[in-house]
Amino acid sequence: MAQVFKPSADIILRAVILIIVIAVIVTVVSGWLYWHSGWLTDVAEAPEQPVPFSHRHHAGDLNIDCRYCHYTGEETAKAGLPTSETCMTCHSQLWTEAEALRPVRQAYTEGRPLWWQRVVDSPDFVYFNHAAHLDVGVGCTTCHGPVQEMALTYESHAYTMGWCLDCHRDPAPNLRPEGAVTAFDWRPRTGLSETERQALLEARDVHPERLTDCYTCHR
Ligand code: HEC
Ligand code: HEC
Ligand code: HEC
Ligand code: HEC
Ligand code: HEC
Repeated sequence: MAQVFKPSADIILRAVILIIVIAVIVTVVSGWLYWHSGWLTDVAEAPEQPVPFSHRHHAGDLNIDCRYCHYTGEETAKAGLPTSETCMTCHSQLWTEAEALRPVRQAYTEGRPLWWQRVVDSPDFVYFNHAAHLDVGVGCTTCHGPVQEMALTYESHAYTMGWCLDCHRDPAPNLRPEGAVTAFDWRPRTGLSETERQALLEARDVHPERLTDCYTCHR
């Protein structure tokens, strides 16, 4: 019987089919990864800043407390971003010639603010308050992720309504002991019994039944 295809053509055909199959798999998998990655919600993408400020360096390695730079959060709704004065308490003596710090020195001598690009910013129709959370023992890394490991600051996850509500429905596991709100190594309590939950909520005077009312966050 005469061969329609030479054996070599058969190999080429198989190779082409294999390549098409691989291409389809790669497209589907990368599409899935793209959809589930932060690319669509800005998560994990650090915006460019006027100064390449590193939390890993300052909060992680040097162990400077979060509130040294974000000190308004304990009393007010805003945690606030540091002014050039805060940086200059150290950098008028340290790294005084560093090129990276030129914008800080300039802002400082000209007496104008530094404009940091915002990383975490909820829409205007959402009411949020840092003090309310810190007062009852909800800590920074519970909401902002491992900031102390970030070379450049990025959004660790999307701050959706569902994310807020997950905690508001059951906040007890996230209530830290006194003095631990800025600790990095604190982990949520696991396996709490109903009695332990109630005791924690009562000790902090937290009432989850009103925390899911629309009015709590939209007022
Ligand atoms: C319950 C969750 C939660 C906790 C706890 C929390 N934050 Fe925030 N933080 C947010 C949200 C949500 C925003 C965005 C607020 C907005 O856009 O109005 C934010 C914004 C910020 C900002 C930007 C400036 C500002 O005030 O809007 C900084 C800086 C910040 N947080 C630092 C901290 C530090 C430091 C701590 C701990 C001392 C902390 N946060 C604890 C949720 C939290
Ligand atoms: C409590 C002291 C202190 C404060 C406040 C401080 N820094 Fe620093 N910073 C340091 C030290 C120490 C180093 C050098 C670390 C080293 O050489 O290993 C440093 C290094 C740096 C560097 C270069 C190295 C790097 O990769 O991080 C930059 C940029 C910087 N700081 C920016 C800032 C900015 C911006 C502020 C204000 C928001 C600030 N620092 C506030 C202590 C401080
Ligand atoms: C030495 C000063 C310094 C310390 C200490 C520090 N931060 Fe910051 N933080 C900054 C500066 C400067 C920015 C603005 C630039 C940036 O986003 O990296 C910032 C930005 C942030 C933001 C993003 C706010 C926004 O919406 O733009 C969060 C969240 C934050 N810090 C949390 C923390 C937490 C949590 C800690 C403690 C683990 C901490 N910071 C310690 C200086 C500091
Ligand atoms: C990890 C837990 C946790 C997360 C996440 C969280 N909250 Fe809360 N929130 C609490 C607790 C606990 C309280 C109760 C404080 C109290 O009773 O004084 C609270 C209280 C509040 C209040 C009431 C403050 C007041 O004075 O009435 C508002 C508003 C609020 N949260 C908004 C938000 C928003 C918006 C988000 C998401 C962007 C959010 N929270 C995320 C735990 C959380
Ligand atoms: C614990 C805080 C919290 C509570 C309680 C809450 N929301 Fe929200 N809501 C948010 C946040 C945060 C956003 C912004 C989400 C974003 O930016 O992705 C939001 C967004 C929305 C939006 C805009 C559409 C969207 O999904 O982004 C609507 C509409 C809304 N909320 C309605 C409600 C209603 C109705 C209730 C009561 C049943 C409610 N919310 C209770 C925090 C809350």
